[in-house]
Amino acid sequence: MSDAHEPALRLQGIVKTFPGVRALDGVDFEVMPGEVHALLGENGAGKSTLMKVLAGMYQPDAGEIIIAGRPVRMTTPIEAKAQGVVLIHQELSLVPEMSAAENIYLGELPCRSFGRVDWKILEERSNAILKRLKCNFRAEVTVAHLSIANQQMVEIARALTVDARVVVFDEPTASLTDAEKVVLFDIINDLKAQGVGIVYISHRMDEIFTLSDRITVLRDGAYRGTLTTSDTDEDEVTRLMIGRSLDLSRDEDAPQFGKTMLEVRNLTCPGLFEEISFSVRTGEVVGFYGLVGAGRTEIAEALFGLRIPSEGEVFVDGARVEIASPRDAIALGISLVPENRKEQGLVLQMNCRDNMTLPQVQGLTSGPFMSQRAELAIFDHYRDRLAIKTPSWRQPAGVLSGGNQQKIVIGKWLSMQPRVLIVDEPTRGIDVGSKSEIHQLLRELAAQGYAVIVISSEMPEVLRVSDRIVAMYHGRIMREFSIESVTEDSLVQAISGIKAEEPA
Ligand SMILES: Nc1ncnc2c1ncn2[C@@H]1O[C@H](COP(=O)(O)OP(=O)(O)OP(=O)(O)O)[C@@H](O)[C@H]1O
Ligand SMILES: [Mg+2]
Repeated sequence: MSDAHEPALRLQGIVKTFPGVRALDGVDFEVMPGEVHALLGENGAGKSTLMKVLAGMYQPDAGEIIIAGRPVRMTTPIEAKAQGVVLIHQELSLVPEMSAAENIYLGELPCRSFGRVDWKILEERSNAILKRLKCNFRAEVTVAHLSIANQQMVEIARALTVDARVVVFDEPTASLTDAEKVVLFDIINDLKAQGVGIVYISHRMDEIFTLSDRITVLRDGAYRGTLTTSDTDEDEVTRLMIGRSLDLSRDEDAPQFGKTMLEVRNLTCPGLFEEISFSVRTGEVVGFYGLVGAGRTEIAEALFGLRIPSEGEVFVDGARVEIASPRDAIALGISLVPENRKEQGLVLQMNCRDNMTLPQVQGLTSGPFMSQRAELAIFDHYRDRLAIKTPSWRQPAGVLSGGNQQKIVIGKWLSMQPRVLIVDEPTRGIDVGSKSEIHQLLRELAAQGYAVIVISSEMPEVLRVSDRIVAMYHGRIMREFSIESVTEDSLVQAISGIKAEEPA
């Protein structure tokens, strides 16, 4: 049974339907011991659903899970874990009020006699795992106090508590810094060397091609094929995924810039960002590029009234303004599509239409209540425009795939027709096809006269959408580039804190 050529795990003919959706339509998938097998597909293709079947969270309508040549039934995640199958979730599933240690061993806290939790052992073991992950926080800390990236590390730590046969990473890098990614990739390579089978889900082709041995593609719940990574390329994979090649050209008329819509002078929030000055014209996209933690999100939050800067001035359409709350910002026509959409953007139990048209919007803007029909028209418009995949507007937002949830939030802010639109990591977790549509959309919005700020940690993204690029390092603007003059090297230098050479 311990044949090296035997898959660590095999899924055969998996079918899973939800009301109105055939999420999986007879999918085959296998992972070999010591293999990194990437799972790719558009938002809503069924990747997370397949992995939830694998991890005992969903029961398939048909099909088999085969481990070491034998069909097994996984009816709960605990049972799956006992079989050595661990899933690291796309959506964080931690209990914020509990410590990191308690979360790591959730459901399996080490106990002393009389069932009392052995806190000493719990904390020792948890700290050992966090150390292995090179985390700079202790296991005793309450999860709510951790950054999103560190919460993600806790989620990963959970997988390392068992002798795993298969570990599934569902978009693990979405909120990690580059340094944290390096650690994660080391961990993955460690597990691989130990003969653990890895399933790796990501929309980032660079990661897929660096890490994986094979790639399986799903499309609309159907199995499209399995490729050997070294024998294929991005174009072939993309075509399998979305049925066409991507057009990455920026074919548009030369952009027309109008008046300065937003100007920021000397904005300072001690410890977060200092002496920030820049401006955005109508018709223009300004990209803020830098490493995670460079202070870009904090600037956006200040412009949206979520942080009060200690110094500096903001002008909108030429007039000096005070932005003390999101209500002020929205009244001035400033919208922010936040980075952490799940917490700040969506009510998961509420249906898709209402998520797009209701809560913040009516709470914050005055004006008549929208009719149901008007709301539906808005929803339909942005569903088509952003290619949001859902069988009906009635679906609770929480059951949409991760990427489609993000599109709902983007649609919500667009539907408010802002003058200044700030988007923070607009395509995080979004598939390559929709990503290029969102880039196109941002360009079009600028062309229609919006002033657009795009915060991104992905170089191809800032290069594709921006007219100007502001490079940040440690809370300061290092350099500003026009799209005509920017080079990849100079961008990398700027965000690493290397000063530009003065022209002779
Ligand atoms: N619990 C559920 N109830 C109803 N529909 C669901 C449920 N879970 C998933 N779906 C639907 O099944 C389909 C597949 O979703 P899934 O989350 O597996 O996509 P995905 O490939 O992981 O996408 P993404 O890249 O955006 O994370 C989607 O249409 C989604 O709306
Ligand atoms: Mg998913």
